[in-house]
Amino acid sequence: MSLGITMDPAEADVPPVVDRPPEAGAWPHRHLLDVDALSWSDIQLVLRTTDAMREVLARPIAKVPALRGTNVTILFYEASTRTRVSFEVAARNLSADVVNVAVAASSVTKGESLVDTVKTVEALGARILVMRHASSGAPYLAARHFSGHVLNGGDGWHAHPTQALLDLYTMRAKLAGAIAGAAGADQDGRFLSGRKVVILGDVLHSRVARSNIWTLTAAGADLWLCGPATLLRGFEAWARAGAGGAANGRFTVTSDPAAALRDADVVMALRIQQERMASGLLPSLREYAARFGLTADRLRLASPDAFVLHPGPMNEGVEIAPDVAAGPRSVITDQVTNGVAVRMALLYLLAGSTASDTVGG
Ligand code: CP
Repeated sequence: MSLGITMDPAEADVPPVVDRPPEAGAWPHRHLLDVDALSWSDIQLVLRTTDAMREVLARPIAKVPALRGTNVTILFYEASTRTRVSFEVAARNLSADVVNVAVAASSVTKGESLVDTVKTVEALGARILVMRHASSGAPYLAARHFSGHVLNGGDGWHAHPTQALLDLYTMRAKLAGAIAGAAGADQDGRFLSGRKVVILGDVLHSRVARSNIWTLTAAGADLWLCGPATLLRGFEAWARAGAGGAANGRFTVTSDPAAALRDADVVMALRIQQERMASGLLPSLREYAARFGLTADRLRLASPDAFVLHPGPMNEGVEIAPDVAAGPRSVITDQVTNGVAVRMALLYLLAGSTASDTVGG
């Protein structure tokens, strides 16, 4: 995709102007609450728009005026480094006016409800609301009371759509060996067709895994979920039913790391989420690391070209060995970098959307 870069002679001292890509109006959703509402063609539009944003980021001045005058409010009720900061960087790169609400220092601590907070930030000018909440479904409630666009930055165990999209983008870039185009794609461009992708770890508590199931199967992956049986509960039934979505893809659930990792093309390790863990699900972290940790030895079962992702934050020595996390197969820092471009693309697409659909659209 070309961003149709033009220099406005009247603004010769400001960064290059980026015209709205012609496809921006093609985005059919008012909000991004999860990836289950996206068609494969929607996902492809996100990936192509991200390619364009990567081009912007490669410039000496990685700033364009696409969202000038647009208020992006970031409202995170849960801790975050990558998602919150990359949304902020992405919005600033698009010249948006960014407001960060420090929830711990806000009227939330005095008992203000989520709905009242949403109405308040809207009254203060918010047009795009990026939010994270510990309760599954909170962004859906916010979307019912907000007249602009809501972007889910992670809700409870439920969904983390921007993480799934940046993971997918990172796999596409790595498999293609370049940011544009993808090797081995089928005729619909499903570039993970025939690729074995493994998600290894605490699947039960993972909103990242839940969103990735939709995007990875939509992209054609032979998806495997692996972890202790106690951390896979409910996923066998989901696997039998199929993921739904554009590809109606199926996936495999196993507690055998060797079966999962053998000949894998992509391995994503997930953090053990002790903050969400009920007692009795794991004997100990030491035993977990011994049986399921992604070590260099285990990774040797995978394809020689396999690469490793982790959404972060990592507990090195538990779900992933430090030498794997920092090793040559790791694309973990690429994920963080790509997160800025993916979030620029999503902010851009949502800002250009004229969809009037309500929650879920
Ligand atoms: N991957 C992810 O959501 O990381 P943060 O919690 O740091 O945002």
